[in-house]
Amino acid sequence: MTGMLEGKIALVTGGSTGIGRATSIILGREGATVIIADVQDEEGANTVGLVRAAGGKAEYQHVDVGDFAAVSALMLGISERHGGLDCAFNNAGIEGPTAKILDYSLEQWERVQRVNLTAVFICMKLEVEQMMKHGRGGSIVSTASAAGLIGIPGACGYNASKHGVVGLTKTVALEYASRNIRVNAVCPGFIETPMLNRVTDASVKIRDQLINGVPMRRVAQASEIGDAVAWLMSARSSYVTGVALPVDGGWVAQ
Ligand SMILES: NC(=O)c1ccc[n+]([C@@H]2O[C@H](COP(=O)([O-])OP(=O)(O)OC[C@H]3O[C@@H](n4cnc5c(N)ncnc54)[C@H](O)[C@@H]3O)[C@@H](O)[C@H]2O)c1
Repeated sequence: MTGMLEGKIALVTGGSTGIGRATSIILGREGATVIIADVQDEEGANTVGLVRAAGGKAEYQHVDVGDFAAVSALMLGISERHGGLDCAFNNAGIEGPTAKILDYSLEQWERVQRVNLTAVFICMKLEVEQMMKHGRGGSIVSTASAAGLIGIPGACGYNASKHGVVGLTKTVALEYASRNIRVNAVCPGFIETPMLNRVTDASVKIRDQLINGVPMRRVAQASEIGDAVAWLMSARSSYVTGVALPVDGGWVAQ
């Protein structure tokens, strides 16, 4: 049986750990060649190993996604080695501080916007450019968050950046829909990753409080986001664009 991404070239940013790692494994299993871009090199090499162990093809590159020149060089390399890009998952992100606006510094705000929003702009711009060059269309998925759809006190920089990703997604989807470049976002709720452990201080009590607020009464495995991303990248979602898809156990439906 052939996978739903057979022969596709797929970029995953933030693929060294968490959601990006789980998604890379699924994309590889579905037949894509996965290019993982991250700043955690050792974990990136581990992800490459996991993709290969699952029967997929992968390579790793050290790229700070907020650095325009570094992302440009990455795209050039993909174009030269693989003949272009079919799919991209703009997933790298940071949580930033947990603080109300009065205690949230301008420096903290700017750092979160740079990684979570400006970097998605940079990647999306250069991905669309690649896809326009080969003219085969493409599918771009970015990681927003449930926090990109509703307000959550205590993380104004993070929430604003993720709302920004949703706005960017809808806008670029409209700009390139007629060129068959689809642009969507996934909006995860609480997902079992290193980020969730940092945000909850690995405290069972805080986790239980979070879980109580989720209609499905559990956090998700990172692969549950990866499955949604693989579907959005594949031809099975061929008429879906401009969507910000909650994958959150019903959280934002409340
Ligand atoms: N875990 C959750 O509950 C949750 C919920 C909603 C949204 N998200 C989003 O999911 C995405 C993935 O997060 P995760 O939970 O897997 O966390 P994670 O910390 O495990 O993964 C984030 C990855 O991004 C990489 N990264 C950070 N800054 C980078 C940069 N400048 N350049 C390149 N790579 C960089 C990190 O090295 C790491 O590998 C993030 O955008 C996050 O905001 C996570």
